[in-house]
Amino acid sequence: MNVLGIESSCDDTAAGVSRDRRILSNITSAQSVHWEYGGVVPELASRAHLELILPAIDAALGQAGLDWKGVDAIAVTRGPGLVGSLLVGLCTAKALALAHHKPWLGVNHLEGHVWSVWGTDPGWSAPFVCLIASGGHTEIVHVKGFGQYALMGSTRDDASGEAFDKVAQLLDLPYPGGPEVDKLARSGDPGAVKLPRALMNEPGFEMSFSGLKTAVRLYMEKNPALSAQGRADLAASFEAAVSDVLTGRTLDAARSAGVDRVAVVGGVSLNTGLRASMDKASQAAGIRCIFPPPRLCGDNGAMIALAGAERLERGERSGDETTATPALDEMSFFLP
Ligand code: KG4
Ligand code: ZN
Repeated sequence: MNVLGIESSCDDTAAGVSRDRRILSNITSAQSVHWEYGGVVPELASRAHLELILPAIDAALGQAGLDWKGVDAIAVTRGPGLVGSLLVGLCTAKALALAHHKPWLGVNHLEGHVWSVWGTDPGWSAPFVCLIASGGHTEIVHVKGFGQYALMGSTRDDASGEAFDKVAQLLDLPYPGGPEVDKLARSGDPGAVKLPRALMNEPGFEMSFSGLKTAVRLYMEKNPALSAQGRADLAASFEAAVSDVLTGRTLDAARSAGVDRVAVVGGVSLNTGLRASMDKASQAAGIRCIFPPPRLCGDNGAMIALAGAERLERGERSGDETTATPALDEMSFFLP
């Protein structure tokens, strides 16, 4: 089944095509209009989606070597996300489905992230524990089967990607900050600055990153004239603190769930320090750890095609009444 996946939940306008868990194409247009504001401006995001979405879809079909006759169905992100952004993708999918007589399905963005690991291993299957770490989410999920997701823990405040972006701002690095902090951290000493690992000694799998961000700010106030090496040390120490928390909590969750496999997905799963720390700790624990390929870590259309195809093949369809669902808790994504 050739499935066109469309993603527009935040500030990436994306489309991709999958066939039997293989990715035929994956086109992402990152919206540079937000960079000068240091964060996503929802109204600008919707407008940019309107301009970018049809070219992204055309490019995805072109890269896959398909015309509309070759498309069997459309999958589109339905939520969670920014309502104006979601609506652009959803209305586009509905209109194209109607015009080309194709079935279509609204897909949960987080389910797309979870199964982005099929880009690495098409045979990967439940049960496993999945860490979803992005700009908007930090959740540890026990994936009991396809469509069966039990929430084990989440952040109480900032998402891990948000913490990277805010620390980048403190360090005067350009937006989006995660990749910049990652780059800077490569030449720093992760043990140089003592930073907190919140909630690590408490039971459960909850996380918190806002105190860490504040600790970085206070350190910078106390040390106003940091050298280039001092900045790199601070970036590396911050990255190590986030990685320790994410790695520790995810592996504890895996042990508690009795699974021997974990997946780390979402934009933050690109982070060099986190990948190294997850690899090392999971190996020591005898747990297999998988990451999506880099182009499937951030928001993308191929992951929506992959997850959507699984549901479409089970006969699921959306109809005219299906609309955008901005909040995660409106989606009954997690098992009760
Ligand atoms: O999954 P994603 O593209 O969008 C959301 O659904 O939020 O994740 C974006 C987040 C941003 O906060 C970005 O700074 C972060 O992922 N990110 C990184 C890296 N690359 C992207 N964080 C740390 N290290 C990276 N290399
Ligand atoms: Zn995302």
